[in-house]
Amino acid sequence: MTPTDSPVATSISPRERVRVFDTTLRDGEQAPGFSMTRTQKLRIAHALAELGVDVIEAGFPQASDGDFASVQAIAQEVRGASICALARCQRGDIETAARALQPAARGRIHVFIATSPLHREHKLGMSRDQVIAAAVAGVRRAAELCADVEFSAEDAMRTEPEYLADVFAAVIEAGATTLNVPDTVGYITPAEMYERIGFLRRSVKGIERAVLSVHCHDDLGMAVANSLAAVAAGARQVECTLTGIGERAGNAALEEVVMALKTRAELFGVDTNLRTSRLYPTARLLAQLTGHTIPRNKAVVGDNAFAHESGIHQHGMLKHRGTYEIMRPEDVGFARSQLVLGKHSGRHALRERLAALGHAPDEAALDQIFTRFKSLADKKREVFDSDLEALALGRDAETLGPWRIVHLHAASHLGGSASASVRLQREDGLQASEAAIGDGPVDATLRAIGRAVGHDFELVEFQIRALSEGGDAQGQATLGVRHAGRELRGRGVSTDIVEAAALAALEIVNRIERSNPATAALAAANHA
Ligand code: KIV
Ligand code: ZN
Repeated sequence: MTPTDSPVATSISPRERVRVFDTTLRDGEQAPGFSMTRTQKLRIAHALAELGVDVIEAGFPQASDGDFASVQAIAQEVRGASICALARCQRGDIETAARALQPAARGRIHVFIATSPLHREHKLGMSRDQVIAAAVAGVRRAAELCADVEFSAEDAMRTEPEYLADVFAAVIEAGATTLNVPDTVGYITPAEMYERIGFLRRSVKGIERAVLSVHCHDDLGMAVANSLAAVAAGARQVECTLTGIGERAGNAALEEVVMALKTRAELFGVDTNLRTSRLYPTARLLAQLTGHTIPRNKAVVGDNAFAHESGIHQHGMLKHRGTYEIMRPEDVGFARSQLVLGKHSGRHALRERLAALGHAPDEAALDQIFTRFKSLADKKREVFDSDLEALALGRDAETLGPWRIVHLHAASHLGGSASASVRLQREDGLQASEAAIGDGPVDATLRAIGRAVGHDFELVEFQIRALSEGGDAQGQATLGVRHAGRELRGRGVSTDIVEAAALAALEIVNRIERSNPATAALAAANHA
């Protein structure tokens, strides 16, 4: 597709709006290692509303009680965006979704069923007519409960185009207001996507009564390109996730789609509602909450996205920014500076710097951050942006207790094993002390903590990274463990890396205890 053959130039009036539908908390959270607590999801949902996304897909309420509670809490608290809940075309799912969305100022039910021959035959065991009947029944029930209904034809891009058009026409009649075209397996190419959206716009009866949407996965690395091709062909909603997290290779990255539409506005001729200066802080927040660092070379929000290292580039930049920069760092909220605060810095300076990084704590929260900042500045000469972000993030209320570390000692011996001893205390006063040896002080500490609380967990991931430069830099430890069939992650930050790892382990232990106090009490009793 070239700029000249885009239908944008001919059939669509300039500056139409493309809705941004964010599914970080549903499709993104489905990816292994990205599960979030309710508190974390609420933080992301608030940040997404602040960013200006049109729709927040908050979860799949029928999937679990936890998902239901998260969708409900987001519907209760978050304003400024529509809150959406996913449901299969089944009455139970749809009614559960409607209940979770009940407190929302603006809610949307998103129903889906697979339409491709492969899925119809092997997954659903349904004929074409049965799939249409289920889709219509699902949309009809959703429309009785909610004015805003989205329908997705799962695996749409491998569905016979004429049949897909029939499915869409039927669900429009039943009350769907948004029709989503997912490339569920990331199979399509941009030229095919452009062609398919054009076909649907021409062929679906009643299409003028609905918004056409696209939902692309990145299995072949084309999710963003395919989403943009769909917009060029007339899709007016794009489904995406922050930094592209999602099933398998992920979804289309929100920040890339939005900045491509903005930077090449003359080509696409559309606007979004986004405050793009919130992109960088919002992507950072997700990375901090999930413990998955943004790759340095990540488009738009990676730390190198605006770094110019080579002499030729620097020379060009000094002459004219446009030589090597197609977006300005400030357009995406890229507000990093190297050295920021120290122990003489005051509350005001702290507040200003936090605001530049996208955090706006209220007075009480700022008091707490300031206290932690002062104690950090006593240990560390220079406090960097990444230190401040870790302070601003604080600890997740759901992982605060019941256990805390009272004592930790770890030692390693050159050429020999390492040992650690810990004493933990539970909220009810119970103390547990244990010692262990291991392959290094971190391993020994994790073993000792596991023993002390009586939980077995299998370590699947362990990362330590310095948050800034210098010998006194804080280390951030991220642990991933498997426990009772679930993957759980914990994060800890300290100037001492063994303590950082212990705090990360403690976060996991506390999460296990809080999610199932009965099992936890039993584990502790057995252990005692
Ligand atoms: O990828 C997909 O098909 C989905 C649907 C549920 C929209 O995530
Ligand atoms: Zn998907």
